[in-house]
Amino acid sequence: MAIDGPAAAGKGTISKAVAAHFGFAHLDTGLIYRATGRRVLDGEDPLQAARALVPADLARGDLRTPEVAQAASRVAALPEVRAALVNFQREFARRAGGAVLDGRDIGTVICPDAEAKLFVTASDEVRAARRLAELAPRFPDLTLAKVLDDLRARDARDAEREAAPMRPAKDAVQLDTSKMDIGEAVAAAIRVVQDRLPPSA
Ligand code: C5P
Repeated sequence: MAIDGPAAAGKGTISKAVAAHFGFAHLDTGLIYRATGRRVLDGEDPLQAARALVPADLARGDLRTPEVAQAASRVAALPEVRAALVNFQREFARRAGGAVLDGRDIGTVICPDAEAKLFVTASDEVRAARRLAELAPRFPDLTLAKVLDDLRARDARDAEREAAPMRPAKDAVQLDTSKMDIGEAVAAAIRVVQDRLPPSA
């Protein structure tokens, strides 16, 4: 299953819930770019950082910060960094028992043959409010305006880059979660996936 979309649209929560519902493994591919960006902030060369990633990097507790999000989006624009990370993602996708991958280019580049593809969106304002609520406990000085600016800068970089730009695959179902609560968004995503699975699943 491929679940793509811009920052803070609800992909992560939806992907986890879909994976749990169907018993699939889940990979948040954004974490791979965040872990690479984190290593670059620590002084490493981007390509070396991507090649040196180990599973423990993805479990670091300091990846969900605004600074790391922007660093991730910058390294993610480098074609050689993306190329270094393709095999790991495809191997994860092929695992027996099924997998859900969420990111920006899963339906278009990493898994063009995915059985179900979703492109999850929400208005900029709704996404910024959700991200602020998530970050506010750790970053009390953050404002809605700053989060909105950060999201827009990141979305623009992700959508306009040459290498695997963020965009819906032609066969993706688009899900706008602006007016949905999380339960409604998850239920809608599960219906889309269920409709596309082979009858035995
Ligand atoms: O999903 P998340 O916000 O954690 O992703 C961080 C950044 O990683 C994105 O802004 C994007 O630049 C990059 N990314 C990507 N391709 C993916 C997943 C994430 O380019 N499949």
